[in-house]
Amino acid sequence: MARCHCRWRNVFICVCTPCIFLALLLAYVTVVLCISMKGTATPGAQGQVSTLSVTHFVAAGLLRNRTFPPVPKTFWALQLYGDAFWNQVQLTIDRHFNPILHPNIKKKKNEEKNFQESLMRQSFAEVIDLDSTRRKLDQLPQQMQLFMSHMQQRDYPALIQPDGVCGAGAKDEEEHPLLLMAIKTTELNFKNRQAIRQTWGQTGWVAGQKRNSSGGKEGGGYVRRVFLLGKENPEELGVDVSELLHIESQHYGDILQWDFEDTFFNLTLKDVLFWRWFSRFCGQSRFVFKGDDDVFVNTPNMITYLQDQLKKPQARNTLKDFMVGDVIGAAVPNRFNNSKYFVPDTFYKGLYPTYAGGGGVVYSGLLTKRLHNMSKRVHLFPIDDVYVGMCMIRLNALPVHHPAFLTFDFPGKEEEKPCSYHTILLVHKRSPKQIIRLWAHIKETQTQCWDVPLRNKHQTKQ
Ligand SMILES: *[C@@H]1O[C@H](CO)[C@@H](O)[C@H](O)[C@H]1NC(C)=O
Ligand SMILES: *[C@@H]1O[C@H](CO)[C@@H](O)[C@H](O)[C@H]1NC(C)=O
Ligand SMILES: *[C@@H]1O[C@H](CO)[C@@H](O)[C@H](O)[C@H]1NC(C)=O
Ligand SMILES: *[C@@H]1O[C@H](CO)[C@@H](O)[C@H](O)[C@H]1NC(C)=O
Ligand SMILES: *[C@@H]1O[C@H](CO)[C@@H](O)[C@H](O)[C@H]1NC(C)=O
Repeated sequence: MARCHCRWRNVFICVCTPCIFLALLLAYVTVVLCISMKGTATPGAQGQVSTLSVTHFVAAGLLRNRTFPPVPKTFWALQLYGDAFWNQVQLTIDRHFNPILHPNIKKKKNEEKNFQESLMRQSFAEVIDLDSTRRKLDQLPQQMQLFMSHMQQRDYPALIQPDGVCGAGAKDEEEHPLLLMAIKTTELNFKNRQAIRQTWGQTGWVAGQKRNSSGGKEGGGYVRRVFLLGKENPEELGVDVSELLHIESQHYGDILQWDFEDTFFNLTLKDVLFWRWFSRFCGQSRFVFKGDDDVFVNTPNMITYLQDQLKKPQARNTLKDFMVGDVIGAAVPNRFNNSKYFVPDTFYKGLYPTYAGGGGVVYSGLLTKRLHNMSKRVHLFPIDDVYVGMCMIRLNALPVHHPAFLTFDFPGKEEEKPCSYHTILLVHKRSPKQIIRLWAHIKETQTQCWDVPLRNKHQTKQ
């Protein structure tokens, strides 16, 4: 009886095992076929794919916040945006550094720098050499073509820099600088720089805002300043203004200029090159403010806000990922070809990652150094704040939204309230004249407005 049972079992194993394997093989082949068919979809079918694309973003790694971005619904959807240029060049890199696909990646530390560079070059060359890519490139707007032809280049030398120190204002400091103001500007915006130097961008020891929480006392911290510039095209401008900038630099020591053309699509270079410069010269600075030269910053509020962050019990941990600003989630790329933000879907498909608006954002010095390391593995993207978001997502970090960052100005009539400018950290956009007037205004109203709290979520809903 026992032997008989055993024989039946052998027969069962002999016959069924191959059947099961065959079935699995069949399923595998079907899936592979489906994937490759998607890759070679006819132009007619692509219209459908691109409407679909608005609903997904493929993240590179795991996210702490699982609700965003939407994860692909099927495991083979990784291919969904395979035919957009940026997605294609980045996919090779993301796959290489994916800890599930390559668990031993950390062991290669020594060869890391050269290795990453060659991986970036290789992934770019593979995609740009495809016939289908070349055909699509010819149809892109000129600005986009220009961007793509320089996408591999980011090693532009510095023409002017504060010599050996981390920004202007390093006199008689008794502790590490609390905040480095890094302000994006252009050669021609001298008035903006001058207004900022006299007002919210003053360096040295800066007092914070008095608050109930600190028993009505004001703390303070050391502030440094640096302006980030590219070069104006002298032929377009009809005059070379670089001489003036040298004089300005000798006078103020707060100019950091690189040898690339200062255009909108080149702004991302200011991020990656600033991060590199910061990692070299500013290791001790606790926070970075990075913003435009047409914003107004309530610096005393900012100082107090940042010191509160340092006092938090988990500060060491949270500062690793600390980035705060006007956070935009689930943004769709601009597809109107007359906009300066236009990104065609042949270049990038999917949603943008959660990012903080580039008008003004604050992050920790530690995060700056981590962003610097990560940026070596992320291909340049023409929209600078989106690029920062792309690096953040790969660090598994999320920017935090704060309603006191008004990158779209005050809502409704809130500005007219007596202490409105004491409730904010930043507002966009203000002219140099307005900046000077507002600075005087917040100094004059300091005593009557000292205990108003910062804008909060409740006020956003008004
Ligand atoms: C996750 O992100 C969503 C959308 O941005 C947000 O509403 C939610 O509060 C976040 N959750 C956590 C735990 O941060
Ligand atoms: C960026 O700067 C480089 C170097 O000056 C220039 O050749 C290129 O055209 C610029 N790119 C864009 C998109 O303007
Ligand atoms: C811009 O888009 C419109 C339609 O959306 C099209 O007719 C036009 O040719 C496009 N212009 C360029 C320069 O691609
Ligand atoms: C950045 O990379 C360098 C070299 O690999 C490493 O020594 C450093 O610790 C990294 N910095 C951070 C903040 O991760
Ligand atoms: C400070 O206290 C006053 C009342 O004593 C209150 O109205 C105000 O909201 C408080 N401010 C802050 C920042 O907590």
